[in-house]
This record gives sequence, structure tokens and C-alpha cells, in this order.
Amino acid sequence: MRTLIKNAVVVLPDATCAVDVLIDGTRIADIDPAIQLAVDEVVDASGLHMIPGVIDDHVHFREPGLVHKEDLLSASRACAKGGVTTFLEMPNTQPATTSIRRLHEKLALAARKSVVNYGFYVGATTNNLDTLQLATRTPGIKIFLGSSTGDLFVENQDVLERIFAETGLPICGHCEDETTIQRNATHFGDTQNVADHSRIRDHEAALVATRRAIDLACRHKHRFHVLHVSTAAEVELFDAARPFVTAEVCPHHLFFTTGDYARLGTLVQVNPSIKNRSDTIGLWKALTNGLIQVVATDHAPHTLDEKNRPYPQSPSGIPSIENALALMLNAIHVGRWSLEQVVDWMCHAPARVWDIQAKGQIAIGYDADLVLVDLERSAEVQNADQFTKCGWSPWHGVTLTGWPVRTWVLGHEVFHDGRICAERCGQEVPFDHARGGFWANG
Ligand code: DOR
Ligand code: ZN
Repeated sequence: MRTLIKNAVVVLPDATCAVDVLIDGTRIADIDPAIQLAVDEVVDASGLHMIPGVIDDHVHFREPGLVHKEDLLSASRACAKGGVTTFLEMPNTQPATTSIRRLHEKLALAARKSVVNYGFYVGATTNNLDTLQLATRTPGIKIFLGSSTGDLFVENQDVLERIFAETGLPICGHCEDETTIQRNATHFGDTQNVADHSRIRDHEAALVATRRAIDLACRHKHRFHVLHVSTAAEVELFDAARPFVTAEVCPHHLFFTTGDYARLGTLVQVNPSIKNRSDTIGLWKALTNGLIQVVATDHAPHTLDEKNRPYPQSPSGIPSIENALALMLNAIHVGRWSLEQVVDWMCHAPARVWDIQAKGQIAIGYDADLVLVDLERSAEVQNADQFTKCGWSPWHGVTLTGWPVRTWVLGHEVFHDGRICAERCGQEVPFDHARGGFWANG
């Protein structure tokens, strides 16, 4: 099948310009100002921009075990709608992805269900070092340095030292210090005020754990990706930690502050907690000056019934997979940053961090994972329109300008006119870890 996409303004690695893009099978076959060729389909993309498909390196899709919240079909459809053509999923499912057998079971499930491309992290426990050493077909190891949703959690220093010393896969981590959290929780006693979530999981909890993980990474010269940075203070640690450390920030930490608890309550309860205005400003700055390289969602669906339990029985987590790109495009609309920067943070950088070949850029020979975005389109986020199975968004009622409108996965059109138009198009992403990660991959 050959598809010719004409008249889009295309974000190429070194220029943004009006060119035609030819898809042949699963690949981008040609990029040229005027391609004249007999093809199966011509798409007139006048007025639209074309970007590489988003690679979301941090999602929680709940299958197996918690499929009343989400599953690989509902989640991957939400991906297609949101312009996400590849997801990398975290191990805190039930059972958790802590053995090679469970990793392979997840890969098999996704092969049967996923609309978009997929990869799965393997979770660290206090006693699965052999799994972490032997695992292949994975972007890397996930460590929860503090407890969060589920029971995956490694705090023991000796265990952490061995994981960093004796494994070869890249590591990513949830950095909130358990001792600090427990001390703060004792102080706030049996509070039912969700705003105390940010006082219990406070700045210090994030800073202490991030410092600890960076120390491990630098001493053991082991690649480490700091997930969901939430404070301006953590950012200060990153410059000195190159070339071992990369970092990620999520839309909820870029766009919500503790002031939002009054309006949204437990809907914005998340780990790490949302922080202050000065933190969001520090995180925007860190993105624009390159101290944080990746924007990912941490899509963590829970049902509204679960979220509406009184704090602290309410679970932490925010769904955002189908709105994250629109949120970032909307920030272009208000002049915060450029489309090229968004493509860098959401497409190119995650491919570099996780050693994904032939994705994350629009270039000849690359996979035809492509998204057309309409930078002028304004639409309100509505709970009723969400594809995620949990069926709500903390951005309900917010109007965003800039939306993905058509998505291709490996040359197959999967989303168009507000609907999913093809299923099961996703493939397992190969990871070539010999490439050496973000600082080695140009
Ligand atoms: O808020 C969170 N929710 N943080 C996590 O680390 C896990 C996630 C979830 O799986 O619900
Ligand atoms: Zn997460």
C-alpha cells in the first residue's frame, strides 16, 4: 500500500517546511516538495502540520489484573486518538511484570490487542536480580524508590547497589523517598484533606530520592532516567549528572499546581504530588534549556468511583494519554514553546533515551508512524468523549487549541475523523541498547 500525504507542513529533523511524504508499506519512502507517483491513496493535508508519532515512555495500562480501569485495547485506542504511536508500559500491573515469563505474556497480549506499537518495562523487586540481568525485549528496568500504586518498591541500599552494579539494561525510577513520606504522614496523622498529599509527598521526598538515584547512577556509571520530575529543586541536580542521567516531566506537573486541589480535589492526587507555581515554572525552564529531555504522560487511570473515595483511600494517578499532545500544542498556541520543541520532547528524545531505531523523526527509511495535527482546531475536553476506559479527565471542560486529527501506525491509518479506523496495527518495538542512550544517540 502506498499513501501520498500532500501539502502538510512537515516537521523534519532540521527544518519545518511544506513537503510531500510518501508512505510505502510500513516505511517513509520519500520526502520531496512535489512527489508525482501513482499511489493507492492521496491525502490532502492542506492547513495541517505533520509530526512523527509520539513515543510515550511512561504509561500504566492495567492489563493484566485491573482491567476495570483500562486494558490494552482501550488504552491503545486512546493512544491513537492522542497521536501516540508507541507506548512503553510500567510493570505495576497485577501480577507485576517482574519475571521474564510475565514480560513475554504482556508482549503476547499486546500483539493480540494493541492498535499502536508497544514495549514493557521489567520491574525491580528485592529478589529478582537474575531476571533483571537476563531480560531482553524490554526498554529497561523500572524501580520504585518509594512506594506508590501497587507493591513494587525497592528501598534497601544494598539491593539498589547490586541492581546498578550488576545489570546492563537502562534503569528508570520513581523517585520519592519512603522515609520522608512516612515521617510526613505521621505528622499529618489521619488527615482527610487531599491538599496534604503534597505536604506528605513533599519537595524533600522528591529531592532526597532523586539525589539518591543520581548518586547510584553516577557511581556505577549506569544509565538512569528520572521519571516524572515534579520540583524545580531536582532540576538543579541534572547538569552535573550527564552523561548518565536523563529526565522526564509530565503534563500534570507542567500544568497543575497545589492551587488546583480546591477545584479538582482527589482528581489531581498523583505520585509524585503536584507542587507549586514556582515548580511548574522551573520545569518549563528545564525543558527549554535541555535539563529535562522528555515529556511523557504517566497515564494512570482509576475509575471515578475510586477517585471519589475520601482521601487518603482515593488512589493516586491521572489519565492523560489522549490529551497530552493537545495540552502541549495548546501551550504553543499561548506562545510558551514551539512545535519543533514539542516534537523533540515527545518524539525524538524518547527514541534516543530508549535506543529505539527508525522512530521519532520524519526521515526516509523511518517507520511511517505519523500524526497530522491541526494547530488551529479548538475543542473542549469532555469526559464523555474520552477513549480511556476510566472515562474522565482532570481537564474536563477545558478548551485546548491544537489537536491531533489523523494518526498512522507503521503505514496503517488508525485514527481519522474522531474514530479508530484500524485495529491491531501495533508491533513490538525492538530496543538496540548497544546504541548507548540519549547522550550517545544523536
Ligand atoms: O500517581 C501514580 N499512579 N503514581 C505512580 O507511581 C503509579 C500510578 C498508578 O499506577 O496508578
Ligand atoms: Zn508512573
